[in-house]
Amino acid sequence: MIKVAPSILSADFSRLGDEIRRLEVARADWVHIDVMDGNFVPNITIGPVVIGHVRSSTSLPFDVHLMILNPERYVEPFVDAGSDIVTVHVEATEDVRATLQKIRSLGKKSGLSLNPETPFRKVEPYMNEIDLLVVMTVHPGFAGQAFMPEVLPKIREARNYVERERIDVDIEVDGGINAQTGKMAVGAGATVLAAGSALFRCPDLRKEIENWHRFG
Ligand code: DX5
Ligand code: ZN
Repeated sequence: MIKVAPSILSADFSRLGDEIRRLEVARADWVHIDVMDGNFVPNITIGPVVIGHVRSSTSLPFDVHLMILNPERYVEPFVDAGSDIVTVHVEATEDVRATLQKIRSLGKKSGLSLNPETPFRKVEPYMNEIDLLVVMTVHPGFAGQAFMPEVLPKIREARNYVERERIDVDIEVDGGINAQTGKMAVGAGATVLAAGSALFRCPDLRKEIENWHRFG
């Protein structure tokens, strides 16, 4: 079954705990948390303090997407705050391997993400050291952007690699995902759908998630 990870970037932050509880009631699989530093991306969102405060709102895994420069500096605080999966960008650190090892040494799942223009070969050397590959289908930084269909072949390339090598790596797509683009991404090999605006805007979240679960 396809996993659905609503991005709280599109939630009402004045009542974040309730918004996250709503995701659990609607049977989301993971809570996708977008962390931006104003350096790696031109926007600033939340940090470990906020994650720590909402940790008690749900038992769903926290899928924490670090869009920050030199993420190795912050792995520990994000793990301490309650992250279950910590994803870093391959473009954001000089030492990808050490960063992934640090995440795993703290007992958490490691994720690696790549921007739309970054080719799959940049992450290929690390595929044995990750649990999750996050393929960006927009330029990271803001919710509500349009899905970039030109990334579909890269999703397919990643999926082919995972199958050929028989490794246990989820492929998450992130950016501009809705019912239509989500189906396209799953068709190309995605196993996890992260989405902000489309899910937080829809009238019946539980029904929508149930529908997405069946894309596989
Ligand atoms: C983009 C973030 C995404 C984004 C998703 O920088 O990583 O997770 O918030 O939002 P939508 O689904 O609205 O594109
Ligand atoms: Zn994200």
